[in-house]
Amino acid sequence: MASPFDVLGIDPDADDETVEDAYRARVKEAHPDHGGSVREFQTVRKAYERIRDGYDAADHAEETADPEVPEEAEREALDPDETRIQYLDYEVVQEKGWQLTDDDLFEKAAEAGLGTEEFGEFVIGSKQTLLEAAEDHGLVWPYACRGGACTNCAVAVVEGEMPMSSNHILPSSMTDRGIRLSCLTAPTSQEAKIVFNVKHLPGLDDLRLPLSRFNRAELDD
Ligand code: FES
Repeated sequence: MASPFDVLGIDPDADDETVEDAYRARVKEAHPDHGGSVREFQTVRKAYERIRDGYDAADHAEETADPEVPEEAEREALDPDETRIQYLDYEVVQEKGWQLTDDDLFEKAAEAGLGTEEFGEFVIGSKQTLLEAAEDHGLVWPYACRGGACTNCAVAVVEGEMPMSSNHILPSSMTDRGIRLSCLTAPTSQEAKIVFNVKHLPGLDDLRLPLSRFNRAELDD
């Protein structure tokens, strides 16, 4: 996984002014209206927030020390209110020519030498949404409104139970296929497998509101 400093193209010892200048330049380049993408934009924004919150080079070394999904026997036992989430980036699924319906999708991903930004696992507690838990683990997943209105945060639940607290936008034809909004969903099973970044799936693209609707004020600062 690229460190926040790599994302902004600066050294780990950069001063505050350099960080601010790099962020402003990168966030404009990365915006979908200027040739970037939602994902790239959010990666830059998250990198800036992490540096501002005190992230340093030592944090990065610790974070990337063990990118492997542990073997079953090595996994820690979960509390009753916790869920182990395995995640996979839909961009990888497309690049590899895999299908969401492949029975061995996550087994293939485990053997593909993917980075932790693309494939891995984390544990989520009972008081978090899936999106919040992913972010707490340093992952940058697409989102915009954080309130169930835009579908940028959509994920496909491949295994496990993951109801949404509310839903005003996804039709039943999608929820029946396991599509959920990560800003509104939380797992109820102890194990779950999800594919994130599925906003470009047929049908979802038509429902999606552009990121610019939610970030114009920030860009205009
Ligand atoms: S971030 Fe907009 S629906 Fe989840």
